[in-house]
Amino acid sequence: MILKVVKYPEPVLTQPGEKVTEFNDELRQFVADMFETMYSSQGIGLAAQQVGVAKRVTVIDLSQGKDPAQKLALINPEIVTSSGRQYEEEGCLSFPDIREKIVRAAKVHIRAQNEKGEWFEMDGEELLARAFQHEFDHLDGILFTQRMSPLKRSMCLRKIRKLQAEGNW
Ligand code: NI
Repeated sequence: MILKVVKYPEPVLTQPGEKVTEFNDELRQFVADMFETMYSSQGIGLAAQQVGVAKRVTVIDLSQGKDPAQKLALINPEIVTSSGRQYEEEGCLSFPDIREKIVRAAKVHIRAQNEKGEWFEMDGEELLARAFQHEFDHLDGILFTQRMSPLKRSMCLRKIRKLQAEGNW
């Protein structure tokens, strides 16, 4: 089922997610719905807050559904170590048409639980490292605008207010 993706400034987007403790069919259905929603929006990552649920669940697929090996469901994820620096353009399904360069770590090592509750660890570089950092931020209620310089953030927020005033947001 395709879920509704909420846009900034929906309050749930800044709400830290609750830890998932039950790995049941309901959770697995929610994860399946999140993948379906992400693919239908041509995204490469989606956090539970973006479909109105403040829980620590996120899905990532850099292949956008083309390569099953890249399909990642990450429950209660955390960054274990990070290193380096990258400065690339980033977008967010909750900020349609907003793209801005954001500083992120170049490499991260993460741990998370899968849909069955099993812990796993993995490394991410470049775009995958960026996706991990962007999505895990969502789970803490942190939006990519908060990672921008104050000047860029105010420019983005002004653009959003303009779009809202025109009825295009
Ligand atoms: Ni996002």
